[in-house]
Amino acid sequence: MKLASKPGHCVPGELTNCRNRIAGLDVVKHPRRWDKPGAGCADTVSVMANHKSNGVKNRPEASRVRQAARELLAAVAEENEEGALSPKAYERSMREIERLRGQPLFYRGVSGGTGSGARVRLADGTTRIDFISGIGVYGFGHSDPDLLETAVIAAAGDAVYQGHLFPGAEYLKLSKALLRHAGKQMKHVWLSISGAMANENALKLILQKHAPADRVIVFEGAFAGRTLAMAELTDRPGYREGLPLRGNVLHVPFFDPNDPNSIERSVAALEAHLKRHPGRVAAMLFELVQGEGGFNTAPREFFVALMERCRSAKIAVWVDEVQTFARTGELFAYRTLDLEQYVDVATAGKALQGSAVVFRKAYKPRPGLIAGTFAGSTVGLAVGARIIERLESDGYLGAEGRIAVLGGRFERRLDALRKRLPDFIGESSGIGAMQAFIPFDGSEEIVAAIVHAAFEEGVMVFGTGSNPAKIRMLLPVNTTDEELEAGFTMLEKAIRRVAEERDLAG
Ligand SMILES: Cc1ncc(COP(=O)(O)O)c(C=O)c1O
Repeated sequence: MKLASKPGHCVPGELTNCRNRIAGLDVVKHPRRWDKPGAGCADTVSVMANHKSNGVKNRPEASRVRQAARELLAAVAEENEEGALSPKAYERSMREIERLRGQPLFYRGVSGGTGSGARVRLADGTTRIDFISGIGVYGFGHSDPDLLETAVIAAAGDAVYQGHLFPGAEYLKLSKALLRHAGKQMKHVWLSISGAMANENALKLILQKHAPADRVIVFEGAFAGRTLAMAELTDRPGYREGLPLRGNVLHVPFFDPNDPNSIERSVAALEAHLKRHPGRVAAMLFELVQGEGGFNTAPREFFVALMERCRSAKIAVWVDEVQTFARTGELFAYRTLDLEQYVDVATAGKALQGSAVVFRKAYKPRPGLIAGTFAGSTVGLAVGARIIERLESDGYLGAEGRIAVLGGRFERRLDALRKRLPDFIGESSGIGAMQAFIPFDGSEEIVAAIVHAAFEEGVMVFGTGSNPAKIRMLLPVNTTDEELEAGFTMLEKAIRRVAEERDLAG
């Protein structure tokens, strides 16, 4: 999807002396394991070395503290590169994690605690290209030197966590950075840790303002988080099985590119809810790119039609940007799509390294409604603010920015793959650093098979949506051409392998 340009916005043990033990497991010294066959990354060492000077601008002058941070990071990297778990110990660590949490690991892998750019090392010494970024968390990929320095310096300060009672400088810096990008109508910000908690805060301040209205309209396919209230706003019956429900959630279909009357259909559904529940609807919740629902996108006119109706009905326009944050070309996708005039409340998370709700003055909650012990870890707050600075100063934002360019490069590679495998690659969707496509018939089973085959070939991708299910990628915004090419080569191998194993046409 092409990005809309947005007028007037900025473009632009101990340091572990137990070197042969990791988490109580045996470690074999294997300094060259980065090139281990099977990871498909024979050139990893040189690529990683190149990554160390990642062209970061706006870096504070080297001070004694920064120098010390660099030395510490270099020592940690050296340690990490030397140790890899033996195959037996690696298997054991996976089994132990699975036993302790009572659930299998999604990927058969455990992180090795170091990486570079889109590449991450596993604890067995092999590498993967990570195109899912912890479902959106690693905005600048792995072991970014500048972010690690920021983290190390922040970690050496007063406290590991900061709260709302006695916040520090990092809290203020991040709050200001968020409001700088939220648009001038947004006057307040409240920090929290998880996306679900930010959404809980959003829901509470909306309900307080609109009381006694207590219903919320959501899109079919919505995902809002894992708390009790968010599980109900999420359109996945399996995610709320056995939970008590309030029964106050109403659904509207998301945009359907194959239906010429899609906008009218969704507006009519909204209209019907407003008529059926007069004075009882508090808000409509928007995911501008549906994260778990299939990376579905919609043209600006679709959102405008619905948001205008929400405003005329005086119900809150609430945008969940937990997954879209910093991936669509602006920090907030509602700014990428030039929708800020309509938005009352928005939430962010994941790539922010914490979470937040931003809101208009009219939504300021009365004292006591929103609090909570933790605002974020000092490291998370400092790194979140630094990520925003980097996005601003290194040309990532805007219609011509690096995120938009990455989206274009991804789409061209996917088109080329589709030409080679026309029966295997279906429709694609996404914006910027959020991209997805339908493989084969779009069954969840085939998506799962490709995701696991891709992991074995050396690239981490993930599934999204159902009917059709898709392969989704949340690319690090600084993904290089080389990483993109290597990742696509592995993905193609995985798709061909699945086709061959299942005797699918092609
Ligand atoms: C759109 C959206 N909202 C909320 C959440 C919940 O965030 P968290 O898992 O940090 O609680 C997610 C997580 O995937 C999400 O994608």
